[in-house]
Amino acid sequence: MVEVRGLSKHFKEVKAVDNISFYISPGEIVGLLGENGAGKTTTLRMIATMLKPTSGTALVNGYDLIKEPHKVRSQIGILFGGEVGLYDRLTARENIRYFADLNEMDSKEAEKSIENLIKLLGMEEFIDRRVGKFSRGMKQKVAIARSIVHNPSVMLFDEPTIGLDVTSSKIVQDFILSCKGENKSIIFSSHSMQEVEKLCDRIIIIHKGKIVEDGTLDEMKTKYGQDLEEVFLRLVGESR
Ligand SMILES: Nc1ncnc2c1ncn2[C@@H]1O[C@H](COP(=O)(O)OP(=O)(O)O)[C@@H](O)[C@H]1O
Ligand SMILES: [Mg+2]
Repeated sequence: MVEVRGLSKHFKEVKAVDNISFYISPGEIVGLLGENGAGKTTTLRMIATMLKPTSGTALVNGYDLIKEPHKVRSQIGILFGGEVGLYDRLTARENIRYFADLNEMDSKEAEKSIENLIKLLGMEEFIDRRVGKFSRGMKQKVAIARSIVHNPSVMLFDEPTIGLDVTSSKIVQDFILSCKGENKSIIFSSHSMQEVEKLCDRIIIIHKGKIVEDGTLDEMKTKYGQDLEEVFLRLVGESR
């Protein structure tokens, strides 16, 4: 469960995120949809405790971002798009285990979780090889395993399929749906309407740091009587 309360981040005069509030229930995939520079990454980085808010806060499973960042961190899994940032000289297993250690997981528990993930993601063949020469798809699987090894109940995805080919994108999308099946609360940012339509239960449209609409796809279509692309252009266009 995530409850964002009046969250803001200002970079000097730029209001990157401007007093946003929303709620995400277990088993729900909420899409954060917005143009480049809308404030998606800044929002997710604040919830992930990677960036200090200018004002406001968020509660993650009841833990306050500002008061208990360490607790919040243990509740969330993060998969951000772009360079996945693995250690090339470590094996896949060592990369995942290193992250489990950072999350202060019991080593037996970590081993068990890694074994499950190897099967789930089909990593048997390369789990004990150094990741340096891995394909993008193989690295993506390791990054996915690393994001969830500590069994977080909240998942944050920031444009996770950006720059991926169809096969790797499918791996990520299936993973997001499997997280929903496990009743996790999921926030997923994207600028792709199709991806958002395919995966999300609810959509939050963000523009210039503010939420301009929050609802299910059906609610938006009923309200605006158009497809998501038209809804988006209309909302984002109107507030320009
Ligand atoms: N570290 C930073 N310093 C200054 N400005 C930033 C920084 N990070 C983001 N911004 C600005 O904040 C706004 C929102 O950026 P971002 O959250 O990355 O948007 P999005 O992820 O939706 O593309 C943009 O105007 C961006 O230039
Ligand atoms: Mg971004």
